[in-house]
Amino acid sequence: MLARRIPRNPGPDAVSKKAFVKSYGCQMNAYDAARMADVLAEQGFSATDHVEEADVVVLNTCHIREKAAEKVYSELGRLRVLKDARQLEGRDTRIVVAGCVAQAEGAEILHRAPVVDVVVGPQSYHRLPDLLARSHAKRVVDTEFPVEDKFDHLPARRTAGVSAFLTVQEGCDKFCAFCVVPYTRGAEVSRSIAAVVAEAERLAAGGVREIGLVGQNVNAYHGLASDGGTATLSDLIRAVARVPGIARIRYTTSHPNDMGDDLIAAHAEIPALMPYLHLPVQSGSDRILAAMNRKHTGDAYRRIIDRVRKVRPDIALSSDFIVGFPGETDAEFADTMRLVSDVGFESAYSFKYSPRPGTPAAERADAVPEDVMTARLHALQALLDAQRHAFQRAAVGQVVEVLVEKVGRRPGQVAGKTPHLLAVQFDAPTSCIGRIVPVRVVEAGTNSLFGEAIEAAAAA
Ligand code: 5AD
Ligand code: SF4
Repeated sequence: MLARRIPRNPGPDAVSKKAFVKSYGCQMNAYDAARMADVLAEQGFSATDHVEEADVVVLNTCHIREKAAEKVYSELGRLRVLKDARQLEGRDTRIVVAGCVAQAEGAEILHRAPVVDVVVGPQSYHRLPDLLARSHAKRVVDTEFPVEDKFDHLPARRTAGVSAFLTVQEGCDKFCAFCVVPYTRGAEVSRSIAAVVAEAERLAAGGVREIGLVGQNVNAYHGLASDGGTATLSDLIRAVARVPGIARIRYTTSHPNDMGDDLIAAHAEIPALMPYLHLPVQSGSDRILAAMNRKHTGDAYRRIIDRVRKVRPDIALSSDFIVGFPGETDAEFADTMRLVSDVGFESAYSFKYSPRPGTPAAERADAVPEDVMTARLHALQALLDAQRHAFQRAAVGQVVEVLVEKVGRRPGQVAGKTPHLLAVQFDAPTSCIGRIVPVRVVEAGTNSLFGEAIEAAAAA
């Protein structure tokens, strides 16, 4: 995809510098990518979706599974061709590898991929202008966890559309046996309520209506409150809900053991907090959960869901699952299928276990054979797909409040999301982008619902 047409003549665009930023993986990476674009914009780089015209290319990488990490190297292979072609035309291209692969592999990336000029970790990307400047003399690596807080050094956020992510917490202290995050992102750190609210106010001023509060373990949030005490995630949600213009709040991603009573109550009490909860369980087997160092059982998870549903019966649930964790038996996988049937998920992400260097599970000798993992993943995904489709079909005939985010797939259509995070397409003028429009759902497609605005005035 990167080896696209390379323009022969630099053309009029050659005078303005351009940056292409591509992000892989989680929402926190999406947030970091947007902030790197802000840093580059301040240096005079305008954003482009066309890699071949970019003077700076940033790959914001993901290290969570082997496949994600390896993707970087195939992209870098394509970028080498592009960089060489641009060089023949006398144009320089700086290649930056950022994100969690940068953090985990550091200088190793420079050895494996001579095309790379800068390797920068998730805590140092505010230094990008300096690193780019230095890279002309010598290729540079910056994967420090610097003493200064990157958030204090980032420029103001530029307009981010209707729905935006906002990182409020980084790092993780949980050390699940399969996971690289505690190593690549470090210990849990929370931003203060004041810092988050200030950023939310900026976003709202730029037209943002929905904020996704993002953290590797967001419900463990413990930021500085305005009275000098420690605030929880529910305190933070209340503070963000008071920001004028912010109509919807979501948060991701959470750990079951941090689902406090106050956060559960918030789902009943704060109208802007959407009825949607992404709460990864990973497995339904107690033995596997213990081996994963999750520190909760399948039943403990079911009880949390019961408590959430008691205060918010319409809540849509989402989870992450890993199949084929070392030693997982057929019976233990069947426990996962049973948990999925018991709980009922609106959406989910499911993965085959991937051993990650440096994690305790990677040391284990009882790997599940690849074909067994594949069969389990298919079975699990078939069940999860059936649940998702049932959830979508149940919406047909209902009136849903759609926050309109962008133009739709077909001419005359716009696209947005319901409170349950279902995508909806319907006919309306683009002037309703950024507004919440009541829509009657008439049809459920594979990935989207189709509807009709019920108030002509609302869509006018
Ligand atoms: N193998 C497979 N999936 C993993 N995840 C995290 N680490 C691994 C791994 N080593 C999944 C978990 C997590 C999600 C972000 O990625 O399900 O919740
Ligand atoms: Fe990884 Fe577990 Fe932390 Fe989630 S809670 S980031 S899976 S260690």
